[in-house]
Amino acid sequence: MSEEQSGRRGVYAGTFDPITVGHLDIIERGLTVVDRLYVAVAAGTAKSAMFDVAKRTELVRSAISELSQEKQQRIEVASFDGLLVDYVRAVGARLVIRGLRAVSDYEYEAQMAHINRHLDGEIETVFLVTSKDCLFISSSIVKDIARNGGDISRLVTPTVAECLQANF
Ligand code: COA
Repeated sequence: MSEEQSGRRGVYAGTFDPITVGHLDIIERGLTVVDRLYVAVAAGTAKSAMFDVAKRTELVRSAISELSQEKQQRIEVASFDGLLVDYVRAVGARLVIRGLRAVSDYEYEAQMAHINRHLDGEIETVFLVTSKDCLFISSSIVKDIARNGGDISRLVTPTVAECLQANF
């Protein structure tokens, strides 16, 4: 089915090691700019991930199950390997959605947007500014707090928190 028939599609990709409320914020706000959102969990990543891709994908699914039914119906979660632009094409989308937390994110995000446009000139990147409550959140920070026995209950969903606590 073409994008014209099924509505505007976008891809929000990441490592999600693990998914945080900051990612969920971008997912929910991404739904205001696309009709169908593909949340794509990168299998191969330059970072050494704590959770394997199957677990990261499972945690993304469990976090999304906490959203309203209407939102869940417009989201598809899958893992992908290889280039993001190939995955974007494969699902019939042309938009990549990224979150921007602070100026410090900009350089990396702009580089990624340029690379993706170099690889496929028809794919656009849309940046959403993170809600102010999520500005300081990152997956590494959440893991660090969990590792040191701190409270992560407002940073991740209960299932993710349980999983992190079980890991440490
Ligand atoms: N709220 C909270 N945290 C956020 C956030 C937000 N709105 N936006 C980003 N982050 C955090 C993440 O938690 C993560 O933190 P960490 O470094 O502590 O783990 C960090 O910012 C960036 O993570 P993420 O948004 O998941 O992106 P990523 O850099 O891990 O993922 C890919 C990048 C996977 C999309 C990119 O590498 C890719 O496309 N790979 C496929 C191969 C490819 O196509 N390469 C060429 C293009 S680069």
